[in-house]
Amino acid sequence: MGTVLMVASGKGGCGKTTFAVNLGCVMAAQGKTTLLLDMNIGLRNLDIYTGLQDKVIFDLGDFLTGTCKLSKVIVADDEHPGLFLLSSPQFRGIEGLTEQHIRLLCSKLSESFDCVIIDSPPGIGPDLCKLAAGIDKALIVLTQDYVSLRNSDTVNKRLESLGVEDLYYAINRVNPIFWGSDGVPDAEKIAEVMKTALVGIVPEDPAIHMGNNTGKPAAADRDSYIYQTFRDIAGRLME
Ligand SMILES: Nc1ncnc2c1ncn2[C@@H]1O[C@H](COP(=O)(O)OP(=O)(O)OP(=O)(O)O)[C@@H](O)[C@H]1O
Ligand SMILES: [Mg+2]
Repeated sequence: MGTVLMVASGKGGCGKTTFAVNLGCVMAAQGKTTLLLDMNIGLRNLDIYTGLQDKVIFDLGDFLTGTCKLSKVIVADDEHPGLFLLSSPQFRGIEGLTEQHIRLLCSKLSESFDCVIIDSPPGIGPDLCKLAAGIDKALIVLTQDYVSLRNSDTVNKRLESLGVEDLYYAINRVNPIFWGSDGVPDAEKIAEVMKTALVGIVPEDPAIHMGNNTGKPAAADRDSYIYQTFRDIAGRLME
């Protein structure tokens, strides 16, 4: 059985989709079949960050309503052998989605893939709570500011209360000019609040932003420090 990892955050825009796609690339590069599951229902982004938007015809809603088989909804990323994408609908919701659907879906997917990485909506809304029913572990991505920290703590506590025990966090978009300044929380302060295991720190880097926008994730370049950074994060998450 594969591992089901959810990427979550307290605030929007912290880098969940960035982490999902870059972790997916390094996992696939290491020979692990990896499915990226976009659960930002109605607001998906992973198709653009993987560059697969033109290949996505069916989505999770089509599978759940019986319109097509699961195999039709899953798109292979030919640029990254071993990496696959399952998109949720864009512009519309999935009516009647329940915890039981999530549990069955995650269980089915983990039979076929070594790793399932779920890109979740920000915050503690109903979809995040349903997703908690199907996951093995969760990574909370936060940025180095007090509002992100406070909301991440809230997500942490909510996931714990829903029975998710394997919780990690990573700090994204770190800018060296802020380290050591009193204005933003430092790693020690963040650790005091988060209490779970820190798996890595990712700097603010235009190459990451460009990679997302061009559908060529920065970690796909195996000679880059970004590949090494996400490879180390993946290693700590999957230990
Ligand atoms: N380390 C980074 N360096 C530079 N830009 C980054 C970095 N991480 C994320 N970004 C940029 O920040 C923006 C938000 O990132 P992303 O879409 O991954 O966040 P998100 O948490 O998935 O957002 P949402 O809550 O809307 O789903 C994007 O424009 C992305 O390219
Ligand atoms: Mg996102």
